[in-house]
Amino acid sequence: MDDTLTRLREIRQPPLLLYIFLLVLTPVAFVLAFPFGLDILPDTVLEGLYLLLAVVIAVPVRRLEIGVLENAWLIFLLGRYIDFLDELFVEPEPIVEPYLSGFFMIVSFSLLMFGTVMLLGERRERLETLEARNEELDLKNKAIEEAPIGITIADMTRDDEPLMMVNEGFSRTTGYDAEETVGRNCRFLQGEDTSEQKVARMREAIDAGDSVQVTLRNYRKDGDLFWNEITLAPLERDGTIPNYVGFQQDKTDEVEYEHQLQEQRDNLRLLGQMVRHDIRNDLQVVRGQFGLLQEHVTEEGKARLQTAEERTKDAIELTTMARELTEVMLNDDPGRKPIALVDSLDSQIDEVQSAFDTATIDRNRPIPDVSVMADEMLDSVFRNILKNAIQHNTADVPEVTVSATAEKDCVRVRIADNGPGIPDSQKDDIFAEGEMGSESTGTGIGTYLVETLVTRYGGDVWIEDNDPDGAVFVVELPIAE
Ligand SMILES: Cc1cc2nc3c(=O)[nH]c(=O)nc-3n(C[C@H](O)[C@H](O)[C@H](O)COP(=O)(O)O)c2cc1C
Repeated sequence: MDDTLTRLREIRQPPLLLYIFLLVLTPVAFVLAFPFGLDILPDTVLEGLYLLLAVVIAVPVRRLEIGVLENAWLIFLLGRYIDFLDELFVEPEPIVEPYLSGFFMIVSFSLLMFGTVMLLGERRERLETLEARNEELDLKNKAIEEAPIGITIADMTRDDEPLMMVNEGFSRTTGYDAEETVGRNCRFLQGEDTSEQKVARMREAIDAGDSVQVTLRNYRKDGDLFWNEITLAPLERDGTIPNYVGFQQDKTDEVEYEHQLQEQRDNLRLLGQMVRHDIRNDLQVVRGQFGLLQEHVTEEGKARLQTAEERTKDAIELTTMARELTEVMLNDDPGRKPIALVDSLDSQIDEVQSAFDTATIDRNRPIPDVSVMADEMLDSVFRNILKNAIQHNTADVPEVTVSATAEKDCVRVRIADNGPGIPDSQKDDIFAEGEMGSESTGTGIGTYLVETLVTRYGGDVWIEDNDPDGAVFVVELPIAE
């Protein structure tokens, strides 16, 4: 870029000096030659020559495209023309000379001086602007060269739209340097298993003059596959698109991680199906068989059978929880929607109450008539907490009280029990993944599921001490507007 500036300086200086030289020389020559001219040439020829010279000089003056200089020279030309006509027609007694001609000379020379000063000022300004632009271009060039991604520019006016520029980042990613790349269409990075669909998307976008982004299989110089995230954008000029700029980012790690995640999801889905169908069905058959066996065993055997049946029931419940957990894990971005709080709470109070008829579940105060931002899994939150409150309750009659209060933009549901309570040291851990209560049948999964869901809804859940005994699970949920 420095070279360009020097070249510009060199180009601009000689013409300027030349014009100044001519401008000064012409009047000097005029004055010097006049007395001799009278002896050598007739005045008219001399004036004619001056006029001719002035016309010749007018051509480069015009090229400068500086109005004031051009006008000054025109006035000077006019003066010369009048002198010439005067000499030609009024000789030997010139009448206009020297007054009118002198006037034109003074005006034109004043304007010429003014124009020259302007020209010099403008030249200095232009140099300063060029230097500033040069610095800015240097900075931009540096940014392009040192960018941590590939940057390429294609010439869309030539056959097959070859690349005309690639940066260091492109060479680092692909292994091809600029000499090997410039002049070729960038499709040379593609291979047999590059998605034709994605290539077609780029083609269509380019044909339509649009931007496009695709991530596809490309190959480095050493033949290694890499996932290239290509962003193409048109560079417009005067209503046409002579160039496209491309940004190449190596996304191999991200894409491979995505594939790994997808594989894990598929495996999880498979496992979920197995738990939901095969294991659950088998457990239900086992439970049914225990029921039928009751009549065929001794009293002692009956007690054992009952324990076995209860454990099977717990295991069946666990499969429900496992199913719900799988659903939550597989669904990254559940669409939240307003759910009537009272409906969800009532349905779960009824369900749990019918499963545990020895316990009592009370609604303390009326539940506020609000909707919360959640999804269908909200039932699972309340079901798990209600069951926990009963299953881990050592009181003769487990008592659970449900209440709720609405705040400004959230509602707090409190589920209190008269059980043994939860020591402070365990209050937070209880929501951790895989944390199981001592006599738990899947408490860990249940509370983990509760916390996962509530957090997804943008709410919070925590445990407080009940008075005089027991624990209170507090669920805070955002109210739907
Ligand atoms: C500036 C620019 C950069 C490009 N960079 C890549 C690239 O890194 N990898 C690639 O596979 N295609 C790239 N392409 C796309 C191909 O050059 C070509 O446009 C695409 O394969 C569709 O055209 P085709 O159907 O004629 O092959 C780029 C295109 C442009 C204009």
